[in-house]
Amino acid sequence: MIKKGIILAGGKGTRMSPLTKAVNKQLLPIYDKPLIFYPLSILMLANIRDILIIVNKGQLDQYKKILPNGKNLGLKIRYEEQDKPRGLPDAFLIGEKFIENKNVALILGDNFFYGQNLTKSLVKSSKIKNGAKIFLHKVLKPELFGVAKVNKNKKIISIKEKPKKFFSDYAITGLYFFDKNVVKFAKTLKKSLRGELEIVDLLNIYKKRNALNADFIGRGGAWLDTGTMEDYYKTISFVSAIENRQGLKIACLEEIALSKKWVKKKNINQAIKFYGNCDYSKYLKKLI
Ligand code: DAU
Repeated sequence: MIKKGIILAGGKGTRMSPLTKAVNKQLLPIYDKPLIFYPLSILMLANIRDILIIVNKGQLDQYKKILPNGKNLGLKIRYEEQDKPRGLPDAFLIGEKFIENKNVALILGDNFFYGQNLTKSLVKSSKIKNGAKIFLHKVLKPELFGVAKVNKNKKIISIKEKPKKFFSDYAITGLYFFDKNVVKFAKTLKKSLRGELEIVDLLNIYKKRNALNADFIGRGGAWLDTGTMEDYYKTISFVSAIENRQGLKIACLEEIALSKKWVKKKNINQAIKFYGNCDYSKYLKKLI
């Protein structure tokens, strides 16, 4: 069972500069809410309530303004700072104390997931006892991501980070579920040629032990990585299109917390006061 989750929300922010010179990328808007709400909503949908957010050194105050401690969402939110981007597995070194030798999920702060069967898969994945689980999604440009090759039985046979030569069109999305060995394994990793600890090296340790499993976000689901300016704006258009058509919000944290009975109406009223007079508050009012 996975009860703890880490959101990795630091990074250099170079690809989206100057937008990210003063504000961390994960605090920029995706339509009507900050980007960080989306990965946080994914952990919540997986029933993960004990959360560590890793942010860049010096940016803690920005985050605490919008997500102080999670109480109003029925969550426990803690923060750690990363002094420089050492790579994704650094999350498990920074988070060692938080993890307390338990199973843990990791989601990248700039990843967006949406889809009908997603919640079911998330809840199922949060129940893993041993091994690691990753989510794969078909993409047109696999060379931009970590990539996995799978056989007919959907078993992973090989994984590589940003392969120059085509080898599979299944991208490894930024959502990972690990058993408690993850910290021990992360400590054995060496820096790659680009000077970072690599998530694929960590996943390969699990693969060698025959303990790496894949789930798939099919055609009915969407995975967008808001890494580049173009993808960032595509994600905004996607959210705007869905929300304005359905009148339902994607990643409304209070709505998820209320539906799971983690909070009461009074918490929603507090949230309305906190956000002030805005469309998001009007939506919350309708919920109660
Ligand atoms: O988005 C999925 C991809 O994410 C995977 O397919 C790749 O296997 C994985 O390596 C990663 O690739 P990126 O090149 O997109 O990672 P990036 O350096 O952009 O970092 C992703 C997020 O994590 C971003 O929001 C910044 C944050 N980050 C990154 C690093 C390296 C940190 O907070 N600290 C870090 O040290």
